[in-house]
Amino acid sequence: MPFSPPRQLLIACGLVAFLLTVNSLLVAQQSHVAKSKKNMVASVHPLATDAGVAAFEAGGNAIDAAIATALTLGVVDNFNSGIGGGCFILIRTADGKLFAIDGREMAPAAAHRDMFLKDGKPDSSLSQIGPLASGVPGALKAFEAAVKRHGKLRFSQLVRPAAKIAENGFIVDENYASRIRATAKHLAKFPGTKKVLLKPDGSPYRSGERLIQKDLANTYRQIADKGTDWFYNGDFAAQVGAWMKANGGIMTAKDFANYKTVDRKPVVTTYRGHKIIGFPPPSSGGVHVAQILNIVENFDLANYQKSDPNVMRHIVAEAMKLAFADRAYWLGDPDFAKVPRGLIDKQYAKKLAKKIDLNAASIVKSHGTPPRSDTEFFSRHTTHIAAADSAGNWVAITSTVNTTFGSKVIIPGLGVVMNNQMDDFSIAPGTPNAFGLVGAEANAVQPGKRPLSSMSPTIILKDDQPIMTVGAAGGPKIITQVLLATIRRIDFGMSIGDAIGRPRWHHQWSPNRLLIEKGNAKDTIEKLKSMGHKIYVSKSAGVCQGITYDPQTKTFTGAHDPRVPGKAAGQK
Ligand code: GLY
Repeated sequence: MPFSPPRQLLIACGLVAFLLTVNSLLVAQQSHVAKSKKNMVASVHPLATDAGVAAFEAGGNAIDAAIATALTLGVVDNFNSGIGGGCFILIRTADGKLFAIDGREMAPAAAHRDMFLKDGKPDSSLSQIGPLASGVPGALKAFEAAVKRHGKLRFSQLVRPAAKIAENGFIVDENYASRIRATAKHLAKFPGTKKVLLKPDGSPYRSGERLIQKDLANTYRQIADKGTDWFYNGDFAAQVGAWMKANGGIMTAKDFANYKTVDRKPVVTTYRGHKIIGFPPPSSGGVHVAQILNIVENFDLANYQKSDPNVMRHIVAEAMKLAFADRAYWLGDPDFAKVPRGLIDKQYAKKLAKKIDLNAASIVKSHGTPPRSDTEFFSRHTTHIAAADSAGNWVAITSTVNTTFGSKVIIPGLGVVMNNQMDDFSIAPGTPNAFGLVGAEANAVQPGKRPLSSMSPTIILKDDQPIMTVGAAGGPKIITQVLLATIRRIDFGMSIGDAIGRPRWHHQWSPNRLLIEKGNAKDTIEKLKSMGHKIYVSKSAGVCQGITYDPQTKTFTGAHDPRVPGKAAGQK
């Protein structure tokens, strides 16, 4: 007779299995979180975070740690970011001052508005792959500026350890391997790229294999020995110019020599008693995080979260939609386009909030008209790094080569992945970019102009003291990730681990669909559908990093996004 265990035993086993599952979920949830009383750095790669902690150990501050991390990411995570790309750096120094360093790429001098038209039609393969796709890289100059002005260590001291990792290689993880697999066909088109990122037999590196980047190591060492002048005014620029000329590109050595970082004035707004510090245009992030917060401030989100979280989700999604409609029309490089300050006006937000129907999704036909829109202007695949120290320095860097492995070009001998940030321009009115974003005149290609970005490095103050920083990767989903983390922390009191780890949702007006991250409950999807939202379920809604500080316990809590590998850590 077959053995049939007693019912109580089955129930007990079931209970144990349930508790083990819950426990392992909790452990898994907490493994992306770290605590320290001294300092904290969070990024998407353990080696990069370790470089940040090493900078702290060497006597550096949060600025040094963040830049050490960014330079290392350019080696071990170069499909997302690196010195061939651009970045925005937001800093709050120990003396309470705020700085926004714009290291966004710049269109070459020979760029023009129709450069991505082929036979009169927009051709995004030109703005996404190959020599025309790249803007002049700004990340390296911005990294150097941050360290020289606000760090404690020498810049070369932060570059050399990253060179060593490139020289000795690192073990490719499944995330990296999957990025090579996904782009291998395009990577193989460029001999310099093929040599670095594909194996001698042409096959992609697999998880567990070691990737050595000797040319990149040499480039980093030249920068450490000769300074960033070697990159912008020396051999590096000359070699890029020569390759571009021979391969149908327009970027010249002179474009490199002309590149400048720009010091911008951060966007500051308030939200339920907190000060939200964001990055101004050419990022759309600071403006639209502020605008959406201003809109949802008109609703008691904490109460809806308790009574009916789907209504809360609906309100936030509607606010996202309204803001993204404005983004498509108004936003561009403030040195070329007039971006109205009224976009973050509280009264304008109130007007937009009135358009939100609590029971039904609306059709937003077009952008709104913020106050003073003709007079008052802002003067002007990605990764995020968060860092903070007990002296009171806080840093938020979002850095990017744009989509995976940027333009797919590594110029032979240089080792650096060149960005494809030109695709963040509106290459023709109404033509969506790689993220489905459309734009208008404000974001048309012009020589020397910076393409509009969604990168949203953010620092949050309470009683003028920093209590949180957050930022993300994922194109337009950057804005909504930063927004949700902020709301979850401020309105719902969630820990940074939960604020980042819980499932997200995203609306960017066009296309008119509400992205729901897998992991949201089925009834959430059904309820939002019944309100008229067109639902699109996606595996992931971006990658977010953040740090909070508890003034009571004087403790930093850092979290990396549990959706991908990463690490948050501080000194013991
Ligand atoms: N390349 C993505 C962004 O800057 O928004």
